Amino acid sequence: MAELHPACVPLAFLLGTWQGTGTGVYPTIEDFSYAEEVSFTHAGKPFVAYVQKTKDAGSGLPLHAEAGFLRPQGDGRVELVLVQPSGIAELLEGKVEARDVHLVSTAVLGTASAKPVTATERRFWVEGEVLHSSVAMAAMGLELQHHVVSEMYRLS
Ligand code: HEM
Repeated sequence: MAELHPACVPLAFLLGTWQGTGTGVYPTIEDFSYAEEVSFTHAGKPFVAYVQKTKDAGSGLPLHAEAGFLRPQGDGRVELVLVQPSGIAELLEGKVEARDVHLVSTAVLGTASAKPVTATERRFWVEGEVLHSSVAMAAMGLELQHHVVSEMYRLS
């Protein structure tokens, strides 16, 4: 395996595959629960690849998925470029501090058929053995507000 690029050291706490469960809310939809798997990998280059997939907690059917790259910029600054099969693409910028990555969108774009999303805010943070992931979004014409949060444990 390639040696970790020095720029990625502040993100090393995320590396691996994590699995767990989460819950979601938004004023326009029914509350829901989901199972989630994420992996953070590196290839010796100055970025960390991120892949996520989720399933409905009851039916086991696929729900949301996304993939992208975390791009550390030095001094704790981090960029994230991310795409979703729902037709949405996000660019985010933020900070990694200790074991906490906090990112705010600088641009959110959608394909012609995508639901309208104008801003997002994301956090990945590890407490003890647990990886937490959360997303807030401004969507469907509403203000930025909480959408999903999950807790995952390391598989590898
Ligand atoms: C763990 C991650 C996520 C899960 C499990 C999830 C799941 C869901 C579910 C079950 C719904 C309601 C049914 C549906 O419209 O499909 C929904 C709605 C929606 N989600 Fe998510 N979502 C996640 C993340 C995101 C993200 C990152 C975005 C945008 C950046 C997003 C944008 C939306 C939008 C725009 C709706 C439609 C709301 C409406 O129709 O009123 N979701 N999500």
